[in-house]
Amino acid sequence: AQVNGNLTALINSRLPKKVQGLLLLIGQKAQKEGYKAYAIGGFVRDLLLGVENLDIDIVVEENAISFAEKLVKYIGGNLKTYPNFGTATLTLKDGSKIDFATARMEFYPFPAALPEVEETTIKHDLYRRDFTINTLGFKLNSPVFGDFLDFFNGKKDLEDGIIRVLYNLSFVEDPTRILRAIRFEARYGFKIEEQTLAFMENAINNNMLEQVKVSRMADELKLMLVEKTGLASFKRAMDLGIIDKIFGEIEDKKGLLKGMEISNNLLAMCKDKGIPIDEPFLIYLRTILAYCSEGVRNKFLKGMNLEKNNYDDLVYFLTEYQGILEKLIDPKFYSPSQLVSMLERFSNDSLIALTAISGSNLVKKRVFLYLEELSKISVEIKGEDLLELGLKPGPIFSEIIQNVKKEKLDGNIANKEEEILWVKSRYLPKLKDGELTDERY
Ligand code: CTP
Repeated sequence: AQVNGNLTALINSRLPKKVQGLLLLIGQKAQKEGYKAYAIGGFVRDLLLGVENLDIDIVVEENAISFAEKLVKYIGGNLKTYPNFGTATLTLKDGSKIDFATARMEFYPFPAALPEVEETTIKHDLYRRDFTINTLGFKLNSPVFGDFLDFFNGKKDLEDGIIRVLYNLSFVEDPTRILRAIRFEARYGFKIEEQTLAFMENAINNNMLEQVKVSRMADELKLMLVEKTGLASFKRAMDLGIIDKIFGEIEDKKGLLKGMEISNNLLAMCKDKGIPIDEPFLIYLRTILAYCSEGVRNKFLKGMNLEKNNYDDLVYFLTEYQGILEKLIDPKFYSPSQLVSMLERFSNDSLIALTAISGSNLVKKRVFLYLEELSKISVEIKGEDLLELGLKPGPIFSEIIQNVKKEKLDGNIANKEEEILWVKSRYLPKLKDGELTDERY
């Protein structure tokens, strides 16, 4: 379908029937209740590109919350409102979400040259956004449903593959847009327009990234790194000096890049092999922090609002990984049980990060032997089996289980039957000989 003045044909050909119906309903309700509603942003950008994206963003004049409250009565679902921001999120019964925002005018007035036409409010709202490709929209109100809004030549930039800001201070006002620009650039294979790149470099050199709160920075880095093209974006961010600004001057840039590449490959390998990973972003972050100063590590650990288990796991990793790597890099022989005792306190995510940082095939071999085989070996006998053998419960039980596990890991015991035989041969003679009369037993 061809895009011209109205997107209805495109909407009908590219969006699922359910979404089409939903948009129409919203437009009918807006019309009836006297609001103006527009679909905008990434949803419209990706509709034009033919990329699936069902995160629907809707801007409403004059009040998104009161409109969403009326809408929810009409179409059902669960509404959460954020009065401080004039926004609301509607979660439908099928789990899909629609975000509503009140059109905002308070920001930058247009350069005087731009003629003021009808849609002043929505136009101002779109003007304050990050890039021209994200300022596209269409009307939802029933009589004009699908009418295309393209105030800033976003469609042309989309066709030409160009990332362009709308005003000079865009990156100063919101430095996270620096990362967004390179994220979109890599995702769509676009180019950052020359003037925009100059604004961006200016903001980077003027230390604007340092103004951003760590938690926001981390959120934006996560969005970037978990994309399919995250690694390419990271390289670009290194080249532009962005990583040095966020994480302090990185001395071993080559090492870090290699670590990030290996992290990326190992993540794919884990996915392939069904090895469970908790949070890919935090693997990349461990890798980066391993190349940073103590001060930067602490700043990130404290500033990121991590859940306690993640926080503890990261702290453990950063204090312990070097010591363990020294051992793992040593080509001397370790028995399986020795490997397990070295690795078992690390999470899978930490093990992947330390393998990536090492860049060593021997470490990789050892870690994957652990992840794929050794970590799955467990003892089958339980306390009740030991009771049946006539052993008295006490601390000795866990000692026995530990020892059985060691023998099993090292291949001396294969199954439950052999576990029992082994316990009998090791512990029962002692019982008979009176050696186990100690009260511990
Ligand atoms: N936006 C912005 N500045 C930011 C973040 C967002 O101007 N720092 C605007 C953009 O116009 C964007 C819209 O807010 O289109 C919605 O933001 P978000 O959902 O993060 O962006 P999408 O473009 O939908 O990106 P993605 O495809 O990654 O979801």
